Amino acid sequence: MAAHKPSNIRPADDVDALKDAVAALEAGEIVGMPTETVYGLAADATNGEAVARIYAAKGRPSFNPLIAHVADLAAAERLVVFDAVSRRLAEAFWPGPLTLVLPKRPDAGISDLATAGLDTLAVRMPSHPAAQALLKAFGRPLAAPSANRSGHVSATTAGHVAADLGRRVAIVLDAGPSHVGVESTILAATPTGLALLRAGGLPRESIEAVAGMPVERVELDDPEAPTAPGQLVSHYAPGAMVRLDAVEVLAGEALIAFGPTLPRHAELASAVINLSPRGDLIEAAARLFSALRELDGKAATIAVAPIPAKGLGEAIVDRLRRAAAPRPA
Ligand code: TXA
Ligand code: MG
Repeated sequence: MAAHKPSNIRPADDVDALKDAVAALEAGEIVGMPTETVYGLAADATNGEAVARIYAAKGRPSFNPLIAHVADLAAAERLVVFDAVSRRLAEAFWPGPLTLVLPKRPDAGISDLATAGLDTLAVRMPSHPAAQALLKAFGRPLAAPSANRSGHVSATTAGHVAADLGRRVAIVLDAGPSHVGVESTILAATPTGLALLRAGGLPRESIEAVAGMPVERVELDDPEAPTAPGQLVSHYAPGAMVRLDAVEVLAGEALIAFGPTLPRHAELASAVINLSPRGDLIEAAARLFSALRELDGKAATIAVAPIPAKGLGEAIVDRLRRAAAPRPA
């Protein structure tokens, strides 16, 4: 391997760069996308393996739910159900630095990994022309967290993205510095009103003026923290018990397997899903949440075969531990 690799930074207004970015997204790769807030690390939100590559590239130790970016309101309507107030806010502030957390439509087609198994979906219509061009050319929603390695600050230039993520991203579209520079404001409609999940590029006062109601601040210690969404919306957890590192299956348990070798007595399992028979952690991550959903209700306990806690495996094991933890009453 040569020490010098050509830069993957390409001008966002270059027609060929845009075509290459769309081709990369179609191939399930990830692309650095300029937005008015911060640069995003974009992947096809409908493709579980592509979404898994986002978490792998970020080095995220857990699966935080991701924002689905759309080109227009019609695309958002296909993903989530708007209440009257949320629609008014979308009409007033989109495109722009506002993310709305709304009930996900059952036929939204968004990968379970992108929502971390939640029944809600965060949607946002960015105003940046480069983001708009990419979304329109691709034609499907893009899942995109901020384009930084986990624990680092958000990237506001293409150079930051490349420095943080290097070749983990196929192409970084360069449109100069993000002009808002802080992430979008995240708002959730709750049965009792509006909750501010993250302060961001759109001031709370502007939201209150249009909504005609106060916006209640839900204190989130760290926007990157995996517990963040759990404070408001119920985080998906199976009703079944989850037993980790199972080297053998007990009668009647459901089994989540991983790799070519099954635990002992796998034949006793009431149902078996192998996250990746070839032991691929990207494939396993993409299947994790749907596997939990599918096996839930089929047994009182889901036994999970040992999964190596390295690379994406760390996030898989973290999420399984959370699924195994008792829920507050
Ligand atoms: O400005 C932005 O929002 C940037 C650009 C790229 O669009 N994106 C961004 O994404 O900041 P990220 O992944 O770094 O932060 C998204 C936050 C996370 O804290 C996540 O927990 C929360 O949104 N979130 C996503 N889906 C959620 C949901 N269904 N319920 C509650 N919180 C959610
Ligand atoms: Mg972030």
